[in-house]
Amino acid sequence: MDELKSSREVMTVKDNSSGHLSQDTVKKVILQSQEAKKQAYCPYSKFRVGAALVTINNFVFTGCNVENACYNLGVCAERNAISKAVSEGHRRFKAIAIASDKSDQFISPCGGCRQFMREFGTDWDVYLTKVDGSYKKMTVDELLPTAFGPEDLSMKI
Ligand code: THU
Repeated sequence: MDELKSSREVMTVKDNSSGHLSQDTVKKVILQSQEAKKQAYCPYSKFRVGAALVTINNFVFTGCNVENACYNLGVCAERNAISKAVSEGHRRFKAIAIASDKSDQFISPCGGCRQFMREFGTDWDVYLTKVDGSYKKMTVDELLPTAFGPEDLSMKI
């Protein structure tokens, strides 16, 4: 019989605040997004991105961008982290931190990722960071105002 191993340790953060992250947690989650960036598979763009997503229960799911020789199949870091969380049964999120190698600009999520975030609510926080760990905080709603979402299809997520 084959021995099956789980490659993922469940990461959590200690955070008391219900909706928003404490300052200490923000720092930790940004570090986790920077750590996730190290796994980026981006031989085509050479643009590394990492994301760290915090669920409402303080679980952390990370993701990096994963590109493909068939360019349009590449997946962004944010979508990767969200898909990992959803596939493990988590659908409610407090925040996501996004890291790149840019030192002069806060990394800005693409339109597709904004829509992907919006699927799981409009009122949660997105930390757009620079390489030094400084950040700009925006809500999903600010990033994608008047967005189409599950409610428009009378869905409850
Ligand atoms: N990318 C992300 O992973 N997240 C973003 O927020 C912006 C762009 C990736 C997609 C592609 O692999 C590379 O960065 C260049 O666009």
